[in-house]
Amino acid sequence: MLLFKRTFSELIFRRFILKHHSSNLLLDMNIEAKKDTLAYIKANMVDAPYFEKHPQLVKYVLGQIDAPGLHLEFGVGRGKSMRWIASAVEGVVHGFDSFEGIQEHWNGNPIGAFAQKQVPKVPDNVELHVGYFDATVPGFLESHSDTIAFLHVDCDLYSSTVTIFELLGDRLRAGSVILFDEYYNFHRWQQHEFKAFQEFVEKSGLAYEYIAYSVTGQQAAVRVLGNPLDESG
Ligand SMILES: C[S@@+](CC[C@H](N)C(=O)[O-])C[C@H]1O[C@@H](n2cnc3c(N)ncnc32)[C@H](O)[C@@H]1O
Repeated sequence: MLLFKRTFSELIFRRFILKHHSSNLLLDMNIEAKKDTLAYIKANMVDAPYFEKHPQLVKYVLGQIDAPGLHLEFGVGRGKSMRWIASAVEGVVHGFDSFEGIQEHWNGNPIGAFAQKQVPKVPDNVELHVGYFDATVPGFLESHSDTIAFLHVDCDLYSSTVTIFELLGDRLRAGSVILFDEYYNFHRWQQHEFKAFQEFVEKSGLAYEYIAYSVTGQQAAVRVLGNPLDESG
């Protein structure tokens, strides 16, 4: 019996601990990312409310908008977050996506990940702008002169987030709310949406405060307090 027990526990050890954990870096990468995230939260976000459930976070954040203007989502994908947003917003929500998936390898996902075979079904108050951001946004801005009330950044990539802030940065004003879907809490989070936003803040002098964050996912939201690029008066 003792012999069986030892053999059995050794089997468990070899199959599950040695094979799946001791040499698997994923767990340690996530733990490291989580520790860095917690340090960032403690240093920068402690006063903001936190959420465990993603839909509740989105709903709360939409209620914090304190500026008139456009509601925009960058990265519509399957349309899951767009359906949450559109159901809580009275006017039009504009969604931007190539639907071809990510153009660069990101966080273990290959080029083309999140591509859609067809444009997703979205509520009636959604207008989709299909194509790469740098191709669709300039024309959109020519025909829409409003500032931004709500900006949902869910395109994962540093380069795509840079494009968003380059093209739309001057449309953010005090009271605008930005929700990031992949801000932190994953391997090398400091190199993606977070980095693009922090670089924009540095360059533009944008003032902001954190208004909500997720303790189970990667989301964080900010409200703009002032934007030197804003000329809307
Ligand atoms: C994670 S998915 C979005 C998920 C979506 N919000 C949902 O709830 O289903 C990221 C999306 O960003 C899009 N994307 C990333 N960079 C882009 C760019 N520069 N131009 C257009 N679409 C882009 C991809 O095509 C992909 O559909």
